[in-house]
Amino acid sequence: MDLILLGAPGAGKGTQGAILAERLGIPKIATGDILRDAVRRDTELGRRAKAFMDAGELVPDEIILGLIREVLASPEAADGAILDGFPRTTAQAEAVGELLNRLGRRIDAVIVIEVPGDTIVRRMSGRRTCSNCGRVYNVYTEPPETEGVCDVCGGELMQRSDDQEETVRHRLQVYQSTTQPLVRFYETGGVPIRRIPGDRPIAEVQESILRELDH
Ligand code: AP5
Repeated sequence: MDLILLGAPGAGKGTQGAILAERLGIPKIATGDILRDAVRRDTELGRRAKAFMDAGELVPDEIILGLIREVLASPEAADGAILDGFPRTTAQAEAVGELLNRLGRRIDAVIVIEVPGDTIVRRMSGRRTCSNCGRVYNVYTEPPETEGVCDVCGGELMQRSDDQEETVRHRLQVYQSTTQPLVRFYETGGVPIRRIPGDRPIAEVQESILRELDH
């Protein structure tokens, strides 16, 4: 099964994608996670992407398309994947379609997680991510047992550099102008669109997604 998770920054794609990956037994692939890891390790990809990410802009397609080719061709994605955070532009969507087509696959469904803008700004100000294992918390809704420390691995919890309010508002605009139109792109192409209200407890959102996927 190949699924796309669409939704504004902070809608809960990463949170839902991680649970869904376990339930469905297919990997979640997130371009944002791959890019942040590259920035942390100071690789060439990270150096090229960092300024765009810090400004809340999309990393240019010419950089992302190579990355998408690599991850979709990887053995771990051989039986399908949950695509979190990509495609984000029409060029990326076309590339994903062509790559899957060559592998004899197609997008089975697009899950759109919908959350109002003001909720998102508050969520993002409370997000903390483990610097070691990547587990995501929220100081308001999903706090760790000990402040600043990951429950799973004891790593230090960090705030993302692009989670400042002004940057979040810019990322929301970029989502609306560039990525949201992909819903229509897929609708026109006959791909099932599953709209999920995301402003509810995490477990309820997950149940709705599974119901929509007939699981
Ligand atoms: P990326 O990492 O993809 O960020 P994003 O799309 O902006 O999404 P987020 O990771 O911010 O949010 P999310 O929806 O995963 O929410 P989460 O589950 O964490 O991209 C970052 C940057 O990288 C981009 O701006 C761009 O520069 C670049 N980039 C990445 N991919 C690219 C691409 N394909 N092309 C070009 N550039 C690219 O949840 C958020 C918070 O809310 C957490 O604290 C969580 O605990 C909490 N929460 C989640 N669900 C709930 C709930 N139901 N109730 C209460 N709290 C909740």
